[in-house]
Amino acid sequence: MAGKRILSGMQPTGPLHLGNYFGALKNWIALQDDYECFYFIADWHALTSLYNDPSLIRKYSREVAADWISSGLDPEKCTLFVQSKIPEHAELYLILSMIVPVPWLERNPTYKEKQDEIKNVELSSHGFLGYPVLQTADVVLYKADAVPVGIDQAPHLEISREIVRRFNNLYGKEVFIEPEAKISEIPKLNGLDGRKMSKSYDNAIYLSDDENQIGKKIRSMFTDPQRKRREDPGDPDVCNLYPFHKIYSNGETQKEIDRDCRTAAIGCGDCKAILAKNMLEQMKPTMEKRREIIAKPKELDEILEEGSKKARLVAKATLREAKKAMRFQK
Ligand code: TRP
Ligand code: SF4
Repeated sequence: MAGKRILSGMQPTGPLHLGNYFGALKNWIALQDDYECFYFIADWHALTSLYNDPSLIRKYSREVAADWISSGLDPEKCTLFVQSKIPEHAELYLILSMIVPVPWLERNPTYKEKQDEIKNVELSSHGFLGYPVLQTADVVLYKADAVPVGIDQAPHLEISREIVRRFNNLYGKEVFIEPEAKISEIPKLNGLDGRKMSKSYDNAIYLSDDENQIGKKIRSMFTDPQRKRREDPGDPDVCNLYPFHKIYSNGETQKEIDRDCRTAAIGCGDCKAILAKNMLEQMKPTMEKRREIIAKPKELDEILEEGSKKARLVAKATLREAKKAMRFQK
């Protein structure tokens, strides 16, 4: 595994929530000790849905970078960069778009799904259809062996592999590597209201929330819908809050709650207070580090600037190699 290269990106469409952390970031952090890792802010991709107000993308890019570093991504160990600082991504995207059949993109399941999910923005642009082509450029410029992503990104990775095969076949050289998806196991953590945790549903707990906000959110959480009164017994297996105990409380506490919920020995209010205490305890170091990072925006910008310089060298070399293989350039 040594010497293998990992690459992944996130769209800066908002600060990160626990779903993003457990769905991807946690995995990214675990990989940084064993692989050469490149992680980037996909700000051009964010333009597909935030084209109405791109200034938001600038703001969120910093927030996401602060979430990354405070959660444990270490700029000394991995290269953290910003997509739009590396024009080679755009150039390769253009080149690839000449060899990608449009039907490959039209049958991409996430194309339709996102259009259905995000109702308040018109997502019928050329750029949105080409989203997986840009994503392919992102990955192959770094000759990444593996791409750690959530399961929702699997179809994109499949398209990337097809594009790589098509390019290498057309030009008779193995310039690009077929990237493998490294899918993270996601614990079942829903949002406050029991639906999937998502910024668009306004039901998320953010890494940037403070102690008060987290306490308030936990108190507002949906629990077992059958448990209407304090004296009704509950069922942790259907409760929306219990999975959080599975992550943040120790085994003994989990057992006690499971038992006492079923006999109504404990109320949901008590149960929430225990969770809030345990969660805050564990989130505290990240919270404190995040405050420090946000207070020094210059240092954060420098980290991304440095990372982008390093990444650009790799991207430039690969693009040159690709254009040579095409005999488009000598
Ligand atoms: N599409 C990814 C997401 O929404 C973000 C992304 C852009 C990405 N380019 C990438 C992920 C390249 C992995 C590799 O989560
Ligand atoms: Fe859920 Fe806890 Fe209430 Fe049981 S006591 S229903 S586990 S919140």
